[in-house]
Amino acid sequence: MEKRKLIAVILAAGQGKRMNSPLPKVLHPVAGDPMIVRVMNEIKKCNAHEIRVVVGTGKELVEPIVKQKGGICFVQTEQRGTGHALMAADFETFEGDVLIVNGDHPLLDSEVLNKAINEFKNEDLEIAVLSCDLPKNKQFGKIVRNKNGGLREITEVTDASSEVLKITEVNTGIYIAKSELLKKYLPKIEPHNNQKEIYLTDIIGLAVENKQKVDAIKVNEACAFGVNDQIQLSKATKQIIANKVRKIMMDGVTVMSPESVYIEDDVTVGSGTVIYPGTFLKGKTQIGVFCIIEPNCFITSSKLGNGVHVKLGSYIDNANIKNKASIGPYAHIRPETTVGEEAKIGNFVELKKVQFGDRSKASHLTYIGDAKIGTDTNIGCGTITCNYAVDKKKYETIIGDNVFVGSDSQFIAPVTVGDNAVIGSGSTITKDVPARALGVARSRQTNIENYKKKD
Ligand code: UD1
Ligand code: MG
Repeated sequence: MEKRKLIAVILAAGQGKRMNSPLPKVLHPVAGDPMIVRVMNEIKKCNAHEIRVVVGTGKELVEPIVKQKGGICFVQTEQRGTGHALMAADFETFEGDVLIVNGDHPLLDSEVLNKAINEFKNEDLEIAVLSCDLPKNKQFGKIVRNKNGGLREITEVTDASSEVLKITEVNTGIYIAKSELLKKYLPKIEPHNNQKEIYLTDIIGLAVENKQKVDAIKVNEACAFGVNDQIQLSKATKQIIANKVRKIMMDGVTVMSPESVYIEDDVTVGSGTVIYPGTFLKGKTQIGVFCIIEPNCFITSSKLGNGVHVKLGSYIDNANIKNKASIGPYAHIRPETTVGEEAKIGNFVELKKVQFGDRSKASHLTYIGDAKIGTDTNIGCGTITCNYAVDKKKYETIIGDNVFVGSDSQFIAPVTVGDNAVIGSGSTITKDVPARALGVARSRQTNIENYKKKD
């Protein structure tokens, strides 16, 4: 028998009124990714032939993200309910199985979905709804069964009697159905509920009435976790971060206060590294072994080698910090910066687009931007590269190896300092300084004798 095709449909056109936010609900970030991206990433692991996303509210914002992830958008022009949304996915010409999920379930787990898809096929069902037991939930549709335990219908909380409200088995908002059944029964759903919406959930009752093979497949709670408001949004992020932190701890990372750190999924951390409280690790950050990340650091899309020490309150963005370098406290390392091995960047130092050589130091109160600093060079306290000129262009400062830059010096770029040069403290360097030379650019000191009369 030829294998039936599977397509996935994600319902993501709803307004998300309860979010109370101008952003479409499915674009709200969950642990760093828009909710819809998380759902699509999981669905991709279900080997669907196509991922169709029903968009509507804020579609101009949602569509580009869906397309970038390889999804196909279908527009629901008016938001008249989940059943109406599914009709917009237009599978008139499709024959096969359809996995339907709500776009507001960021904790979906493809393993669970794949198991359910197999069960659906093995049991040769026409439609299955994935359910789970959530005794405390007050929002989800209730799975109503007959006395003999067979599935009867799904009733939304807003339309439920006090008896039905006591039911603990709820609708996760995930369904698997044969396209033939959807084509037949979706158009028959009536907006007879209190909200005057076309509820996808009603298709279950219709299928039962028409003696189709229907069942509820029980799954774990995580899949059932839907986001309808900001509180649930924060819970979803918290759950994903907690899983990640647990995982890196299992891999040998010491996390002093697991509940106080924020570590996104794509981050990698080597064993033997210690993470103090209050730290954020974001994007595709990679951290080597035996690093120390002190409290309240924010590191995004950066690479840290082995034995790197990031001290209190430092901010590192799109940078590459090599082995045994030390950063901070309170350093700001901006994009396109590389800090060399065993280099030291001290307190209140900002680097932007800098190649900072091995073993070099900028220990205090310094701004270096658009610069190349050689190896074993010492940048004194209060040094500034003046990279931004009156023509609004950026210019480069190049400082060689083993240079000694005295404190409180400025480099008016473009300017080059040769290897082994010395810059006198308080200099404003406007011309190139040759290798081994002393560059001093300050007026000589004048002492006026007996300037102050005796008291
Ligand atoms: C829905 C189910 C409920 C289930 C719950 C699980 C219905 C009627 N109810 O309720 O039984 O327990 O999910 O989370 O289906 N959407 C559209 N177009 C619309 C309306 C909604 O695309 O016209 C999308 C939304 O963007 C959302 C999804 O469908 O991603 C679910 O809609 P939502 O309003 O959140 O439904 P719930 O009230 O959560
Ligand atoms: Mg919902």
